[in-house]
Amino acid sequence: MAAWKGSSVLITGGNRGLGLEMVRQFLESPNPPDQVFAGCRDPEGPRAKCLKDLSEKHSERLFIVQLDITDPVSIKEAAKQVESKLNNRGLNLLINNAAINLHRTLDETDSDDMMRCYKTNVVGPMLMAKEFLPCLKMAAQSSDLQGMCCRKAAVINLSTLVASIEKCPETFGMAPMYPYRTSKAALNMLTQCLSEDFRKEEILCNAIHPGWVKTDMGGKEAPLDVVDSVGGVFQVLSALTEKNAGQCLDWEGKIIPW
Ligand SMILES: NC(=O)c1ccc[n+]([C@@H]2O[C@H](COP(=O)([O-])OP(=O)(O)OC[C@H]3O[C@@H](n4cnc5c(N)ncnc54)[C@H](OP(=O)(O)O)[C@@H]3O)[C@@H](O)[C@H]2O)c1
Repeated sequence: MAAWKGSSVLITGGNRGLGLEMVRQFLESPNPPDQVFAGCRDPEGPRAKCLKDLSEKHSERLFIVQLDITDPVSIKEAAKQVESKLNNRGLNLLINNAAINLHRTLDETDSDDMMRCYKTNVVGPMLMAKEFLPCLKMAAQSSDLQGMCCRKAAVINLSTLVASIEKCPETFGMAPMYPYRTSKAALNMLTQCLSEDFRKEEILCNAIHPGWVKTDMGGKEAPLDVVDSVGGVFQVLSALTEKNAGQCLDWEGKIIPW
């Protein structure tokens, strides 16, 4: 079990699915982070109910932050709000989890579908990395840990096996979803670019495939539940070092080819 004590983490889309389970597992780990920021599009809406219940139980360390990753103003406001709570220690871990999937074949896909997916799944994580960079740099500079790791400073992007270009001949038939696949492949490139760019600041950047998981997005047929997926993802995160910089790994630690 990873020791997150002394760290701060931010998860986008923290109100349901994998994001909510990440928030829960961080808070309920034996060595929880000092601060868990859960991004949520509509904190007062019905879809934030479980997150709100969690925040009543963990009011001293869970902070719900209004955050729509398709809205640059919302991202800037969230960055200001989070920074004001960090006490000059910086943000150690940013998890770009929020995303959408449109189940569209080529026939069904139009330009709006492509742009919606691209805006949420690529532009959102890019703006998040850009706006939170000062907080991540502060965390890297104020840490006394050697090398790169998620406890020090990292950006983790939730990707997917179906974004792998090399694996496309194997995976296309079961999931011919154009907007999702292409946007997540672009997210993989974003991960590589950020990894190269942020290396000098000792900020680690990786893409993670959580497996095929029972959530609103993954559906009921998925073989994995959120508890096992997030448990695996956290083990992988806690073992990442500079040797892994820029890689895409799955929830069991296996490298996914681009
Ligand atoms: N489930 C799987 O099998 C699977 C497999 C591979 C990869 N992944 C990846 O894992 C991540 C989480 O997936 P999931 O299955 O948990 O999805 P999910 O159940 O559909 O939940 C998606 C989350 O993203 C949030 N979100 C969507 N658009 C947003 C926006 N514009 N601003 C802020 N939040 C937004 C949603 O918030 P609202 O409630 O406000 O809509 C929700 O909290 C995604 O990146 C997904 O691509 C999932």
